[in-house]
Amino acid sequence: MEPRAASLSHTTITELMIPSYANFGGKVHGGILLALMDKVAYACASKHAGGYCVTVAVNGVSFREPVDVGDLVSLHAAVNYVGHSSLLVGIRVVAENVATRALRHTNSSYFWMVAKDDEGHPRQIAPLLLESRDDVRRFLEALHRKEMTARYSVELDNATTDLAVEREMHRLEGERCVLAPALELSTE
Ligand SMILES: CC(C)(COP(=O)(O)OP(=O)(O)OC[C@H]1O[C@@H](n2cnc3c(N)ncnc32)[C@H](O)[C@@H]1OP(=O)(O)O)[C@@H](O)C(=O)NCCC(=O)NCCS
Repeated sequence: MEPRAASLSHTTITELMIPSYANFGGKVHGGILLALMDKVAYACASKHAGGYCVTVAVNGVSFREPVDVGDLVSLHAAVNYVGHSSLLVGIRVVAENVATRALRHTNSSYFWMVAKDDEGHPRQIAPLLLESRDDVRRFLEALHRKEMTARYSVELDNATTDLAVEREMHRLEGERCVLAPALELSTE
């Protein structure tokens, strides 16, 4: 399969934050931004894959700053990494206040996508042609992200399956929780 340049699938979606996107605090709902991120991730991944893709995991969604109604939000997406059927799409979200022209980087997130064939099975996609130092850095970062996520997910699985509630009761001390009087748990 011929390698395909990362630059060919760079995608930007710009959307005006209209009043119906607001939460009760008057700021834009996080869910609206998540849906836009999913949309730009799909557009970017499907451009590289040349067909249908699905979202399988999302890394690093945290909102550094609120987004205001009236802002123009631009989501810049690039394929950072390609495996056999999977791709990592990096997304940078920037909010622009049109009155002051101030730009704010509100968050960056990473969407794992998988290309599917007509039967719904993972489908092999073209390798990534890295054309710039940034492309190389992003690919290497993705390898780290992939390794660390795999390690973390094993550790988290072990921590939850091996969790001995009685043995760990002391960890609740100083936490902002209170045991109901009827709850019978012994602290060993
Ligand atoms: C994710 C999914 C494609 C895995 O299918 P599978 O038959 O188990 O296939 P595999 O285990 O061979 O994995 C296929 C690829 O997905 C990757 N993958 C699977 N789970 C992953 C995860 N949580 N994070 C990142 N990559 C993942 C694998 O690493 C593999 O990548 P590679 O082909 O580049 O090596 C399948 O579980 C699926 O379709 N899930 C539902 C996705 C969906 O519908 N999303 C929309 C949500 S509304």
